Amino acid sequence: MTQEQATEELQPGKDVYNAEQWIKKRIFVRELARKYGEIYRGLLEQPRVFKSKNLSFKGGPMFFHKSVINPQSASVTQTIETHIDVLAPGGYGQKHCHMNSAVMYVLEGKGYDVHGGVRHDWEAGDAAIVENACVHQHFNDDDIDPYDIDDVMWAVCTRSEPVEMDIIKKAWSTPLDPRIRKPTDSFHNSRGIIYAVKPYEWYSDFPLTAVASEKLREEAFSKWANQLDGRWEVI
Ligand SMILES: [Fe+2]
Repeated sequence: MTQEQATEELQPGKDVYNAEQWIKKRIFVRELARKYGEIYRGLLEQPRVFKSKNLSFKGGPMFFHKSVINPQSASVTQTIETHIDVLAPGGYGQKHCHMNSAVMYVLEGKGYDVHGGVRHDWEAGDAAIVENACVHQHFNDDDIDPYDIDDVMWAVCTRSEPVEMDIIKKAWSTPLDPRIRKPTDSFHNSRGIIYAVKPYEWYSDFPLTAVASEKLREEAFSKWANQLDGRWEVI
């Protein structure tokens, strides 16, 4: 679907506009009323730093959300809303749109957005923008965080097939290698390559990754916290 077709599909008068959420009255620009001095003093009293760590995620198991700054909870702003979303591996958010434009900054992973039927790939470090009233959806394509040794070992345990391993013989090494028996003048060793990935040939048929709800994970990992060293905080 092209951007034009998506826009055409959401024209007023179409069935989707008769749904309750589309026809109820809303206030898009809220009144900012009181005396000037009161508002000014109130703004000065607002916190300058909002700790997202003090806020809990809601939702799951595929999509987790926490609001950090928004007009409902912080009178420091009428127009800015800030939140953090976490998509589980292979997860996606709800298709939606809003009257504001939005900027998304990707902290970790890789995935893609669909804006008006058009796919846009992104990865950690990228910023993406969604224009006003554009129907869009976020998808997490990532699976394993290669910097997280627990993730990596999980993949090794669940996705590797030993018969598919490769061994590189006589790879270069150094005299510092403790695995090379000295004295010798042949500083070589071998390397094993473990393919702990979803096989490319049947990637789309690979079983979906299951993630327990945040509540269940918190209960389980709190019970075994001394054994798991805070691992439950990682999604
Ligand atoms: Fe959005």
